Amino acid sequence: MRLRREMKNIVGIGIAAAALFGGFATAATLSDATVRSHAAVARRAAAEGMALLKNEGVLPLPRGSRVALFNLAGEYHPGGGGSSKVKPVRVVDIPGGLKEAGFSVDPESRETAVVVLGRSSTEGNDCSEAAWELSVKERESLAKVKSDGYGRVVVVCNCGHAINLGPLADDPAVGAILWTWFPGGEGGAAVGDVLSGKVSPSGRLTATFARSLADYPTHATFHAYRGVVPYEEGVFVGYRYFETIPGAKEKVVYPFGHGLSYSTFTVTPGGVSFGGDEITVATTVSNTGTDPARRSVLCYSSARGGEAEHPAIELRAYAKTRIIAPGESETLRLVFPKRDLAYFDDEGVHAGAWVLDKGTYDILVGGSVRDVVKAGSFEVGKPEVLEAPGIRLAADRLARRLHADGTYSGTPVAYQSRPGLEPNPKLPAKAVENPAVTLYDVAAGKATIDEVLDQMTLKEMLFLLYGHPKVDPHGTGSIGALEKFGISAVQTCDGPAGIRRSVESTYFPCAALLAGTFDPVLLREVGEALGDEAAETDFDVLLAPGLCIHRHPLCGRNFEYFGEDPLVAGVSAREYVLGVQSRGVGATVKHFAGNNREETRRYEQDVVGERAFREIYLRGFERAVKEARPWAVMSAYNGVNGYNCGENYGLITGILRGEWGFDGLVMTDWHTTVPLWREVAAGNDVKMPDDCEGTYMKFVKKDLGPSQAEFAISRNFLAVASVRESASRVCRFVMKSRRFRRELESLAAKDRSASKAAE
Ligand code: BGC
Repeated sequence: MRLRREMKNIVGIGIAAAALFGGFATAATLSDATVRSHAAVARRAAAEGMALLKNEGVLPLPRGSRVALFNLAGEYHPGGGGSSKVKPVRVVDIPGGLKEAGFSVDPESRETAVVVLGRSSTEGNDCSEAAWELSVKERESLAKVKSDGYGRVVVVCNCGHAINLGPLADDPAVGAILWTWFPGGEGGAAVGDVLSGKVSPSGRLTATFARSLADYPTHATFHAYRGVVPYEEGVFVGYRYFETIPGAKEKVVYPFGHGLSYSTFTVTPGGVSFGGDEITVATTVSNTGTDPARRSVLCYSSARGGEAEHPAIELRAYAKTRIIAPGESETLRLVFPKRDLAYFDDEGVHAGAWVLDKGTYDILVGGSVRDVVKAGSFEVGKPEVLEAPGIRLAADRLARRLHADGTYSGTPVAYQSRPGLEPNPKLPAKAVENPAVTLYDVAAGKATIDEVLDQMTLKEMLFLLYGHPKVDPHGTGSIGALEKFGISAVQTCDGPAGIRRSVESTYFPCAALLAGTFDPVLLREVGEALGDEAAETDFDVLLAPGLCIHRHPLCGRNFEYFGEDPLVAGVSAREYVLGVQSRGVGATVKHFAGNNREETRRYEQDVVGERAFREIYLRGFERAVKEARPWAVMSAYNGVNGYNCGENYGLITGILRGEWGFDGLVMTDWHTTVPLWREVAAGNDVKMPDDCEGTYMKFVKKDLGPSQAEFAISRNFLAVASVRESASRVCRFVMKSRRFRRELESLAAKDRSASKAAE
């Protein structure tokens, strides 16, 4: 069998090749079976991720209640703008959901008032400070609801970012607050499920809600410095700040992990075992109330007496029960590696190492950071260096950094470095018309990728290193598309909450809500459903999940990220990726890393200590990369300590590939402004395109793209070896795709029928 497709010689490599070669099999719509089953997953996830923040005996509402609805949100927000936007198959808004749940919506009734607040949010913009507070209209409407004397007042918050909930939390007239984030197309139905008691709430907040924006240690630096953001708070982000720094606890309205149930539980740790490199806490959860319900258990550590400073409490593991009937119990095993307790020393005697500090480690279990019991503790006699990768992202301009006692001091100065280059070898100058071997031969075990690359000119290799504008009007572009070498045009699509295209798809809840389920199994299911939808609609790679950290409550993309804690981000992303990829579709973890502000994302520099960057902003990526092996990583627009992420050698080649062993593809975020050659030199394989063959693409190709890369090679700024290495990774990426496998199969079928005919 000779696996060769009829070769089309590419004269003048260009987008036309992608257009010819990347055609879609069908303009596929989802099957009815998919729509139905995924609606059920989305609804269950939405109901389980909403957090009931306050309930003064008001919820669940009695069956068939008459409800006066104050929809101050205006329109319902199933999700946010940008890469998470979906054209939904179905949207059940909150009025629709209340009706579905059997309530009668009756403006005249004084029985129950349901007041819906809303906040939109989108990529490319941060949220305004005005949006943090209740608006005048919201305050007036709430005052009217109170003076009209409703029996029960329930506030439902359909918001993409945290808001000041202090006035509602403190107000005795507000009987219940349900925080729904952006709950997706089935979100209104899920609100109905929770308010009616069909589902007992079990979601929790994955971010701390403080009383004022100024209470967040990141607030002073969030808007003020255009383009340069000093991460002065260090590792004290979110609850790590509020639970550690003297005087900060009182500023919290609802702490990390807060979320109520209709039932009551006891959580009893059965002791901590420290076997080998793992710590295990078996915890028994008993339902002592009257409602069948699920309960998540969060396990934290608290270190004291060490050489270094540590946050007062840090999340280490979590798990969730099945639905437990009243009077019944379930025992959960919470396990985490000892390595997770290590801190990264970026300035002390062990600088550049992960160190298990000396001192006492308490292990705590419970729910929110404020609601825990001690399960056990252990001592470490002297600091133990676990790994010593060295300093890779030194902060050279961070003037000061926060300490655990609330004071600040300066940080040391160091510079990133990268190895020098060997002289560049010569490559074929003239393109071959009919290559002797193609990627199909590689797949058949008859050739190697190196042999395919040996036939390429520099131009052809560079062609593989930038993405091509979308062929499908609804996709986000393709990668590969060198037909004569059998390199398919792998089709990518957004995004985190569903397949973003103009044909309808399931609108899943946003990431912040999904993470709030504290249910890794459910995250896997959502990933599987997204993988199925990508496959059914003929995409190869999903540009999701996003797992940056909620550094400040007003980042325009917080809804798209899992929360303020790196363990939650890492576990949620791992399960999501495993789910998507189990369907033969690639996942892309993004935006690597520190894209924690949107307004200035294209040119922003995070100036951040390496300890904070590794422990808070990279840890989730590390877990997802090591434990789920995503096909791709998307480098972020912003920079870290002077280098944009796509051109950050320490970040991509040093940490991602060198330390974590990532062997997949790194693509940039869409239309970055750094020259291609600098990205390739850093280990970033592909620069992704704009939407169309417009002015921007012309600029990229002329000024930032391959011709400039050729010049950089001629001056030995860029190694041909780096170009080749990235081209080789593109080939490996293409070979995993559905498209390539389909083409391979159809060629094999053609070959089979040809040999039959010849017999
Ligand atoms: C976003 C990415 C997205 C890409 C393609 C960018 O603007 O930051 O998250 O995947 O566009 O739509």
